[in-house]
Amino acid sequence: MNDLKCKNLSMTFTNPQTGAAVEALKDINFTLKKGELLSVLGPSGCGKTTLLNMIAGFINPTAGEIFLGGKNIDGPGVERGMVFQQGALFEWLTVSENVSYGLRMKKTEKKESQRLVEKWLDIVGLKGFDNTPIYQLSGGMQQRVALARCLVNDPDVILMDEPLGALDALTREKMQSLILELWKETGKTIMIITHSVEEAILLGERLFVMAPRPGRIQKEYNLPFSQRGLHESLRAIKQDSEFSKVREEVLTMIWDMEEEIMGRA
Ligand SMILES: Nc1ncnc2c1ncn2[C@@H]1O[C@H](COP(=O)(O)OP(=O)(O)OP(=O)(O)O)[C@@H](O)[C@H]1O
Ligand SMILES: [Mg+2]
Repeated sequence: MNDLKCKNLSMTFTNPQTGAAVEALKDINFTLKKGELLSVLGPSGCGKTTLLNMIAGFINPTAGEIFLGGKNIDGPGVERGMVFQQGALFEWLTVSENVSYGLRMKKTEKKESQRLVEKWLDIVGLKGFDNTPIYQLSGGMQQRVALARCLVNDPDVILMDEPLGALDALTREKMQSLILELWKETGKTIMIITHSVEEAILLGERLFVMAPRPGRIQKEYNLPFSQRGLHESLRAIKQDSEFSKVREEVLTMIWDMEEEIMGRA
């Protein structure tokens, strides 16, 4: 029903310095079914953020189309929620002012807004932090706020660009668990971009490894680890042999791509 479909998607930029055409993405095709969790991995410059920004409706593709639930996407919309790397919150506003931002835009009644904000703060583990300003929170807590701010609007699709990129290893692992929990609880469609091979393999039931110039999907994996992560320790999963085998394969693939890019540069 609410499938996200990218059809023959291409994006060509002009390099502002040289005037040369940059094929950021070329002929991307995939369908993400409702409730699927997709992670996207690839070397710097392979078009990950461009792809996400097009699905968010921030930029229009030079060719191709994107559909959500059969409806053509041609701009931003509340049915697609975003979570960015740290720094996208309003620093001087409180946690609840940040989380209720979208609800205020929608003119949600105050009592209902309060109820929703409290519900989501509780779910992401920030009960009691309603009146704390963002700048007083740790990085991990700020990303919990970012997740609550997205989820409170009940989007069909959640788009995340390196959401855990700025966190230390331990906080990051806790947040990976939270993302899996939220995925299970809400049944939302999630697309997450990450630079971490381990994180991509752990979180994605589908994983796209992208390659650059032109930006494209090099290989797709279907993986069991996100399902397992719902009831097994993430630490244990990361140590098992099946996980290591996929990690080595993906690392080698990305390493080879980086070598090729360096060779060409
Ligand atoms: N607005 C723009 N104008 C010109 N070129 C752009 C623009 N945005 C992106 N590009 C180019 O498109 C390509 C893909 O960029 P993109 O930011 O999508 O890569 P990425 O995979 O997200 O990289 P990273 O892992 O470093 O975040 C790059 O070559 C980049 O320089
Ligand atoms: Mg990027």
